[in-house]
Amino acid sequence: MQFSISEVIRMTLLSAVTVITPFVILGLLFLPSYSAVTWSLIAVWVIGQFFYSTFLGSRLGHSTDLRQYGPWAVVTGSTDGIGKEYAKQLAARGLNLVLISRSPAKLQTTKTEIEKLQPSIQVRTIAVDFTEDRSIYRRIAAELGDLEIGVLINNVGMCENYLEPFIDIAGEHVIDNLINCNIVSVARMTHMLLPAMIQRRRGVIINVGSTAGAISTPLGILYGATKGFVNKFSQDLEYELRGTGVMVQTVIPGYVLTNMVKSTTRLGLFFGVPTAEEYVDAAISSLGIESYTAAYWSHKLQIRCHVVCEFLAPEITKFVVIRGFKILTGKNK
Ligand SMILES: NC(=O)c1ccc[n+]([C@@H]2O[C@H](COP(=O)([O-])OP(=O)(O)OC[C@H]3O[C@@H](n4cnc5c(N)ncnc54)[C@H](OP(=O)(O)O)[C@@H]3O)[C@@H](O)[C@H]2O)c1
Repeated sequence: MQFSISEVIRMTLLSAVTVITPFVILGLLFLPSYSAVTWSLIAVWVIGQFFYSTFLGSRLGHSTDLRQYGPWAVVTGSTDGIGKEYAKQLAARGLNLVLISRSPAKLQTTKTEIEKLQPSIQVRTIAVDFTEDRSIYRRIAAELGDLEIGVLINNVGMCENYLEPFIDIAGEHVIDNLINCNIVSVARMTHMLLPAMIQRRRGVIINVGSTAGAISTPLGILYGATKGFVNKFSQDLEYELRGTGVMVQTVIPGYVLTNMVKSTTRLGLFFGVPTAEEYVDAAISSLGIESYTAAYWSHKLQIRCHVVCEFLAPEITKFVVIRGFKILTGKNK
């Protein structure tokens, strides 16, 4: 591969800035005469940025209006929890919906519910099980036909054997199912719908990852690792697609009160755990303001706190995470 002189200069400057920046920051922090001022500036920046991205930005009208990307939205895993709430909130903004989920009966109920709430929009359904083999993607593509899809929400996800040791997973199918549903679905749905979005130079892809993919989760390693894929895939895709008109957002929720966690944890006892409605409201408000976000205020605080703790004391943090899981599941006796 040949590089022009200007490209070589640009790359050299970029590398130099990347290497030098941490040293400059450390230098500023530890220069005694500057430390108080520097700390104050950093505090103002961090707190200001948190308030702007979490509460203020959307109120100032800085969020993206999803209606400008096309008339149809596809939501995977849309008959419950976060996916169903995305579907309802997109419908409220006037987007037509294709709901893709497992159970035909739940799809019909969700379609009827949304049509009653928003009579002016169209709702179509596709019943597929994302744990199945790749033939499901041919079916989905055929049923989507040439609909102009402006928004894709890759939400579907399963969380079997969470909070249990990896070795206790019984049956290879559990491993395959989790990988097919949580990883393959995201890559395949994106690959299916992206070319038309790029051709039209407009589209939004929202990938629902998880905080579990961004921090250490002993006792939830398979789920955490599948979500780690989503977080990374989505972040890098966002960068790759800049300038194409297609926006990618990675949403990394902490605990949200849905079926996925209600049955296995005692989350209802804790303060700051949002319902699916509260969570999706925060996530949609952050679109256009943050491309990688935990979106909800308590989740943002949790993840920042966790990242700092993991940096300073990784072993203690892992120990505390496991204790926390045991308390959540009532297995701490
Ligand atoms: N809840 C949380 O605390 C939390 C935290 C972080 C990330 N997340 C992520 O958020 C996403 C949504 O989670 P949720 O809590 O809203 O889950 P949920 O309440 O369990 O809902 C999951 C939805 O996906 C569908 N679904 C599940 N497995 C499927 C499969 N194999 N094929 C097709 N559809 C399937 C379900 O349909 P059926 O009802 O028909 O099965 C349901 O509509 C997931 O990706 C999850 O990993 C959740």
